[in-house]
Amino acid sequence: MIKPIIAANWKMHKTVAESVDFSQRLAKECEGLEEREVIIAPPATALYAVSQVLKGSTVQLSAQNMHWEEKGAFTGEISAPMLADMGCQYILIGHSERRTLFGETNETVNKKLQAALKFGIKPIVCVGETLEQRESEATFDIIKKQVKEGLNNISTGDIECVSIAYEPVWAIGTGKTATPELAEEVHRFIREILSSEFGEDAGIGTAIMYGGSVTPQNIGELMDKPNINGALVGGASLDVTSFTGIIRY
Ligand code: 13P
Repeated sequence: MIKPIIAANWKMHKTVAESVDFSQRLAKECEGLEEREVIIAPPATALYAVSQVLKGSTVQLSAQNMHWEEKGAFTGEISAPMLADMGCQYILIGHSERRTLFGETNETVNKKLQAALKFGIKPIVCVGETLEQRESEATFDIIKKQVKEGLNNISTGDIECVSIAYEPVWAIGTGKTATPELAEEVHRFIREILSSEFGEDAGIGTAIMYGGSVTPQNIGELMDKPNINGALVGGASLDVTSFTGIIRY
């Protein structure tokens, strides 16, 4: 049984003060809440301050992006050991905004994944099709390619640290949530790929979150599906009350 994961991706929102305030309130809300894994991914500027607030809390910290190199002449970039040093337990890799706006490919996703694993940070690998790909019935081919190439050369031991987030691009920030049935179909397919690539344990044990216009109103029906193990939430994670509503679906 996979513990439901509810993760907040704040994207490019919130100052340090706002992030700290949110984290303090969230940590309090999550006190004693054993039945959820709650993760927040603030902007890089707030990671250290939030990590200090979350010390001793069950809420986990994630970064939104990183570089695959350990150190060197990469102006503006942040490495996995730097994130680990700030107290990050998780990293989002391959978010569709990084793929479409910043040229992330399955190959760079894989490099980042390898680097994160090397430094003990748990990767949340994001996959998802665009509207055009869905309409041309390419969804399953795209997802298969993203999962197989993104997770290339990962050992069966390491796969235990990896989670997947299925985020159909057409559902992100649009208010158009995938129906639970449609999401479930892709989640089941991802699980089959994991089983065939990494063995049955990986197929059964890997958490697969859904992302795309998740709200306190629609989380329940999504989580009712057997292959949906959590949610990666954008807009509705920016407000403590709304995010807490999702956590307590
Ligand atoms: P929204 O919840 O705003 O649609 O964003 C989803 C997302 O991109 C989370 O990573």
